[in-house]
Amino acid sequence: MAFVAHQLFSGFSSSAARNVVIKSVTIIGGGQMGAGIAQVAASTGHSVTLVDTSDDILKKSIETIEGSLRRVVKKKFADKPEAGEEFIRNVMQKVLTSADAASAVRGSDLVVEAIAENLKVKQDLFRRLDKLAPPHTIFASNTSSLSISDIASSTNRPDKFGGLHFFNPVAMMKLVEVIGTPATSQETSESLMNFSKVLGKTPVSSKDTSGFIVNRLLVPCIVEAIRMYERGDASKEDIDIAMKLGAGHPMGPIELADYIGLDTVKSIMEGEAKDPDNPLFASSDLLNKLVAEGKVGRKTAEGFYKYK
Ligand SMILES: NC(=O)c1ccc[n+]([C@@H]2O[C@H](COP(=O)([O-])OP(=O)(O)OC[C@H]3O[C@@H](n4cnc5c(N)ncnc54)[C@H](O)[C@@H]3O)[C@@H](O)[C@H]2O)c1
Repeated sequence: MAFVAHQLFSGFSSSAARNVVIKSVTIIGGGQMGAGIAQVAASTGHSVTLVDTSDDILKKSIETIEGSLRRVVKKKFADKPEAGEEFIRNVMQKVLTSADAASAVRGSDLVVEAIAENLKVKQDLFRRLDKLAPPHTIFASNTSSLSISDIASSTNRPDKFGGLHFFNPVAMMKLVEVIGTPATSQETSESLMNFSKVLGKTPVSSKDTSGFIVNRLLVPCIVEAIRMYERGDASKEDIDIAMKLGAGHPMGPIELADYIGLDTVKSIMEGEAKDPDNPLFASSDLLNKLVAEGKVGRKTAEGFYKYK
């Protein structure tokens, strides 16, 4: 573990302002988000251990990371292919994989969880890891829709628990929402903000309110687009074209839903729907049907659209 003396605000004593400098990161979940976070963390010099439930899944995660790095290198090292290959080699050396979360967290400064969007599953994981990770280790969840306080309540380190909400694709999207609960310490928030900056991202901080900033604003737009299509007001293609050309969005809302994953969109909606005063998030039969059929978007090659 490494510490750096850091003056937070004038008025704070320097002893109250010691942040964990994050060098070693364990990422739990090697899916779309976890693989992306692992890539960015390794590319910025962190030692990364990527954990998933099986070696087969981890093999795919490693292929995804390497494929994504090749796209980065094609642009960044266009004139120096050898330097590009060396960059890929160096980054890949920084990523270890493990199907055993328990041993992976033992030397970590930070654990970032990016597993299924299910409160109980996340709580079970953190409850277990809390007993195994060193006391200084910060825990963070990449949840899109669950309360960070609820997840953190399964541990005895609520002061060292926060949200780190990355966006998809992680390598491209500049934003990270850093979520602090009432129990998150100032030092933990600062460490997570600093870590996000070291990754080359722009962090914003948000309270632990449902949807944080982006999803609170974006999901109602996606949900209304799905309803519009469900009602037959317009075709899905025209809805997407309209929002790209009329509102300047880089992706249409229905394409974006497929991209995020319809299972994730559904979870976010269900999280928001707990607020009875908010009709924007009432469930959609069509979305529920696609999720029940396992057609959850790009990651299963079919959602609203089909992908090769
Ligand atoms: N997809 C997005 O656009 C997006 C954006 C921001 C945040 N998120 C959040 O990130 C998290 C992951 O989303 P995703 O899209 O990467 O999902 P995904 O389905 O692509 O990947 C999840 C991975 O977690 C693994 N996993 C499940 N339970 C596990 C466990 N107990 N231990 C280890 N590995 C386990 C699965 O095998 C899978 O590989 C979710 O909480 C989601 O809400 C998603």
